[in-house]
Amino acid sequence: MTFEQAKALLAQKGQMQLLKYYDELNAEEKKNLLDAIENINWSFEEDLANPVDMSGKNRDISPISGLRLSAIEARKAEFEEIGVQAIKDGKVAAVLLAGGMGTRLGVDGPKGAYDIGLTKPLYIFEQQMRNLQEVNEKCGAIVPLYIMTSDKNHAQTTSFWKEHNYFGYPETEVKFFKQDMAPAVDYDGKIILERKDMPALSPNGNGGWFASLQRAGLCEDLHKRGVEWLNIYAVDNVLQRIADPVFVGATIESKVNCGAKAIFKTNPYEKVGVLCKDGNQPDIIEYYELTDEMANERDENGDLVYSYGVIMNYLFSLAKLEEIVDKKIPVHIVEKKIECLCEDGVTRKPEKENGKKFETLAVDLIKLMGSVLPYEVVREKEFAPIKNKTGVDSVESARELLKLNGVEL
Ligand code: UTP
Repeated sequence: MTFEQAKALLAQKGQMQLLKYYDELNAEEKKNLLDAIENINWSFEEDLANPVDMSGKNRDISPISGLRLSAIEARKAEFEEIGVQAIKDGKVAAVLLAGGMGTRLGVDGPKGAYDIGLTKPLYIFEQQMRNLQEVNEKCGAIVPLYIMTSDKNHAQTTSFWKEHNYFGYPETEVKFFKQDMAPAVDYDGKIILERKDMPALSPNGNGGWFASLQRAGLCEDLHKRGVEWLNIYAVDNVLQRIADPVFVGATIESKVNCGAKAIFKTNPYEKVGVLCKDGNQPDIIEYYELTDEMANERDENGDLVYSYGVIMNYLFSLAKLEEIVDKKIPVHIVEKKIECLCEDGVTRKPEKENGKKFETLAVDLIKLMGSVLPYEVVREKEFAPIKNKTGVDSVESARELLKLNGVEL
């Protein structure tokens, strides 16, 4: 794109601030800026003009039933056999969502490269791969792994994996793909400048993972391998059980399009999204959308009826994903602290929120999948999220849970 083209485009869009420092830039920086402007995804304009109502008040929410631990235990051997066979037959692949910026943890670089070890290094990626390797050993197969990164961490992530010999995986079985970026805007809808030659761009949430995987040409690879199920999981749970044969078997046996691992809520106010139904469709309701009455509603056994709290570990049918990939999922507009170019020419992160980011969420795919199996897991064995450095869902709490599960730190 030439300067004249950029100027015409930005004048029409009301975004001329992006060219404010153009004359001060050297040739390379000018090119960077023009390239970035050319690649801006303008769909945020429509999202800002017509924000989706996320309040849930127009929904017809009711509880959903699922598989409790006792029911899983009773049929464990049967489920496991089905799952192991599917993995042996190459029908299951794993997809790691690692495009996030991990701002709450506040470290530079990919969150998965964070060292949670105490006496020796233990990286988050490494710990998760140990769990996956256990499954491979049990099944005598290798579950192919696809890793989603973003422009913010792609180079660092790929070189980290290479440096660590793919944590024992054959290089051919690990493939990386990048998610899309979205611009961040100020409260007047103007795109923020991060540097003189760069608009503020950030990963556009984890909801577009399948579209990005498809755009990267990886669906062909999945079909060639005969994959039918994709187990997506978040980078920040160090107790994540990936391609868990019992879960895989239970999902396949239930003839649903999606399985969702969940912890069973015992505290009505726990801050996790819960599986539910909206009319006849499966859905997820966020903890802040539950009314007091709903949060406290109990069944005849005294259990909370809105109880299956999701932990970002889903098994999706590839065929169904391909069917729904072009459907629009809601874009969440979130206020954030966005790094920006200050008056003195230095880029800083502000003390308080200064603008908005646009994100889609993987949980919003559940509704489109049409059917879901809520699948309870033992919280202490499978859920150790790392969102913060200290306190709740932190490096500290995850370390305690790892120790509890016999992992040497
Ligand atoms: P979070 O919602 O915890 O976001 O991501 P985050 O970016 O990692 O952390 P904060 O909010 O900045 O502190 C849950 C999972 O989704 C992935 C993350 O990498 C993590 O595995 N994710 C999130 C993406 O892959 N892309 C995104 O755009 C956002």
